[in-house]
Order: sequence, then structure tokens, then C-alpha cells
Amino acid sequence: LSGGNDSRGALVVLEGLDRCGKTTQSSSLHKYLEGLGHPAELWRFPDRTTSVGQMISSYLSNQSQLDDRTIHLLFSANRWEKRSLMESKLKSGTTIIVDRYSYSGVAFSSAKGLDFDWCKAPENGLLAPDVVVYLDIPPEKAAERGGYGGERYEQLEFQMKVRQSYQALHDASWKIIDACQPVKDIEKQLQEIVFKSIETCRKGKSLTCLWS
Ligand code: TYD
Repeated sequence: LSGGNDSRGALVVLEGLDRCGKTTQSSSLHKYLEGLGHPAELWRFPDRTTSVGQMISSYLSNQSQLDDRTIHLLFSANRWEKRSLMESKLKSGTTIIVDRYSYSGVAFSSAKGLDFDWCKAPENGLLAPDVVVYLDIPPEKAAERGGYGGERYEQLEFQMKVRQSYQALHDASWKIIDACQPVKDIEKQLQEIVFKSIETCRKGKSLTCLWS
């Protein structure tokens, strides 16, 4: 899995409902790749460190109000502001693991009732992931996991709608992992999927854009 000068890194996206275990899994995947000596970074969206990200964070914690379309476009802008850095890292051989991406953008906003295609439009032209892994958990099970943290979207009824939106959004290329399995089993399956994806990128798979 060594990078090699001319090979690019893979763009790996993890998606799923709140409390599905993405954050745990993305960080153990990151450690695994580092352990193999493969250059890898762990990213997440929203990226709350930027000024756009701070507006998003204050919205999510109910400290500010924004209409549904405005917050949707801010989530998208938060990905756009990282696009060129993402491209240069990938091209220099670094694999990027991303905890949530455009699919969260579309799934959460369309769950509020916004038009599906309208939600997809601002994502057009962002880098397309090499692999999307969906950690699948029934919303009721997710809600049982130590409770939600109290952010705006962390409510059972809403998460049920988000799951339906994800179902409308996914295609045959997505890798679905049952998120109710033991953590170690999920880790193994994820490692296998990502290992293969890195291999195909190393062999010359080209970088494409959404929504291809
Ligand atoms: P995240 O930071 O992953 O949640 P947590 O604070 O629990 O780790 O995401 C925050 C919320 O934002 C989550 O409910 C999903 C939602 N979201 C959107 O609505 N649109 C988006 O584009 C993204 C990336 C996340």
C-alpha cells in the first residue's frame, strides 16, 4: 500500500445516521492505514473550524436560526472551501477518510422536505468519492446508543426520514455495512473495502466529480 510518487490517494466517504458509529470507525480506519505506513488523513464535514463551519455549528446547537435553504448552502460551501486542498492532497498520494460528505447534505436537507434535485445541485463539481461506505443502523437502535447529544437533528422521527433519503440516494456502488455488528467486525470489513479502493486508485483510477 505504499503511496509511490505517481499514485494518488483514495477518497473514502463514511455515511450513516447520527450515532451509527462513523466517528469511531473512521478514526480506527485512520490508525490502521497509518499503521500500514500509508499516508492518510481523517476529515469530517461539517468542518467546524472554518468561519462557515462556525455558522453551521451554532445552527446545529440551536444558538442561531437559519432557513432550510440557507443552512443547506452553507453545508455545501463548507465542502467547497476545502475542495482544492482535498484535490491536492489526493494527487500527492494521501488517502482522505471523510466522516460525512455531500450525501449527508442531500439526505438531511431533503428529509426536511426540500426538493431532492435542488439539494443535489450545489454539490455538483465537488470531488466524487472512490468509495462510499454506509454504516447501516435502524434509527431505533441508534437512539438507544447512550442517547443523542441534543443537537438539532438528533431526534428519532427525523432520523427515520433521513434514512429514507439515504435509501433514495444510494446506488449499487455503495458498500453497506451492518452497524449493529461488533465494533471489531465492522473494522475488519471496512479495512477490506478501503484496502481494495486504495489499490484501484494506485493502479490509475481517475479522479472524477459529482454527480458522476
Ligand atoms: P456531525 O458533526 O457528523 O455530528 P456529530 O456532532 O454528532 O458528530 O454532523 C452534524 C449534523 O449535521 C448531523 O446531524 C448531520 C448534519 N449534516 C447536514 O445536515 N448536512 C451536511 O451536509 C452534513 C455534512 C451534515
